[in-house]
Amino acid sequence: MADTNVTMEKLTALAKKRGFVYPGSAIYGGLANSWDYGPLGAQMRMNIKRDWWKQVIESRADMVGLDGAILMNPKVWEASGHVAGFSDPLVEDMETHKRYRADHLIEEATGESVDGWSLEKIAAKLAELGLQSPDGNSLSAPKSFNLMFETAIGKTEDSKESVYLRPETAQAIFVNFKNVLNTSRKRLPFGIGQIGKAFRNEITPGNFIFRTLEFEQMEIEYFVEEEDWEKQFEAWVGWMEGWAESVGIDKARLHRLEVPDESLAHYSKRTIDFEFEFPFGTKELWGLAYRTSFDLTNHETASGENMKYTDPNDGARKIIPHVIEPSMGVDRTLLAIMLSAYSEEEVNGDTRIVMRFKPHMAPYQIAVLPLSKKPELQEVARPVFEALATKFRTDYDQTQSIGKRYRRQDEIGTPYCVTVDFETVEDKAVTIRDRDTMEQVRVRIADLDTWFAEKLV
Ligand code: GAP
Repeated sequence: MADTNVTMEKLTALAKKRGFVYPGSAIYGGLANSWDYGPLGAQMRMNIKRDWWKQVIESRADMVGLDGAILMNPKVWEASGHVAGFSDPLVEDMETHKRYRADHLIEEATGESVDGWSLEKIAAKLAELGLQSPDGNSLSAPKSFNLMFETAIGKTEDSKESVYLRPETAQAIFVNFKNVLNTSRKRLPFGIGQIGKAFRNEITPGNFIFRTLEFEQMEIEYFVEEEDWEKQFEAWVGWMEGWAESVGIDKARLHRLEVPDESLAHYSKRTIDFEFEFPFGTKELWGLAYRTSFDLTNHETASGENMKYTDPNDGARKIIPHVIEPSMGVDRTLLAIMLSAYSEEEVNGDTRIVMRFKPHMAPYQIAVLPLSKKPELQEVARPVFEALATKFRTDYDQTQSIGKRYRRQDEIGTPYCVTVDFETVEDKAVTIRDRDTMEQVRVRIADLDTWFAEKLV
């Protein structure tokens, strides 16, 4: 059973110790809220993205992929509404100059949501409550703070042109809508999926990899006839919940939140947030939005390019499709999978930590462990590793006692350990230990391939 009481301290410590996630730029004192993924974290991110891409793009006739650029013409962000509307209200501590989300301060003080409030209304509420900063100092008036990172193209000061690092991957899909339509010849309903980095100058990042300045999104824009949007929206609700379970996210800790009208993003008419019970509170894991025809219409108006779809059954009928957008963060997915997998149990008076990852998400699926470093065992164990590694993600671990190696493999979530012992030299068989049950079976080396092919589908 997964441990629902795991704390973030325990998880971050394990992540660092075992090589899932390291604090960013640590040798220079770090960079706040930046993280680097170690060998195991990098592999798990790859597993998440590969599975998503396979399920969403490769297995469906109504979906195609895209890999758009991070830097786009700034006019994209004007048309999308991000220049004008992608901002948070910010206040500054007048002594320490630390910045805070004004809406969060009010929400913490009153317990009521201030989503959708104007800056004036927020200012009036701050004054009415007489709110001070968490350090007890007075606060500035709230200001609107755009979350897009701005940078410049060009070598000299006067030739520089301002551009933004994309705050969502979605816009590359919208601006390429006609390109994809013309080259793929898809018919409605169809979707375009994309995986890539996005950047947001968050005022209050934190909680490990939950909210960072740089993160990765897996986004789909699913184009539909307007009258079909509700049916398609429901289909994506089902898909997202099913995929969550398939990658090992604990469904008992996953909840739907119907986002109230006043809290909807500027482009959305309906949004469901899939929330997960993180140790620091129940918060958004993924979002599913009905973006109407907002983006394509705005891009048509701003660029002057035709964004319409011609009905193949009636050439005179030209429409701007409506859009359902399942949007999922890779980093939050990894965090939810790790929290769902973490478990502790008592074994012979010791605490055994086990990451109960699904085999297709685990960094390694098999670990080959020669009982000792003696050459006669290495000679047998190496070829076993080499053969398994061509088909499965396999680790080769020969340091420390076998007991410690089992514990290490439990902590990194390896479903099966293959122990090569002195008998192996004689009987050409190995012991396979199951991570979850700790049961052991003896299997002939010649049968390993088929044995694992059945277990690790
Ligand atoms: N295109 C729609 C969009 O970007 P969003 O709800 O702002 O919607 C989608 O972001 C997903 O991206 C979130 O549900 C979350 O998984 C992830 N995400 C957003 N901001 C993030 C951040 N600062 N750090 C990590 N992940 C983030």
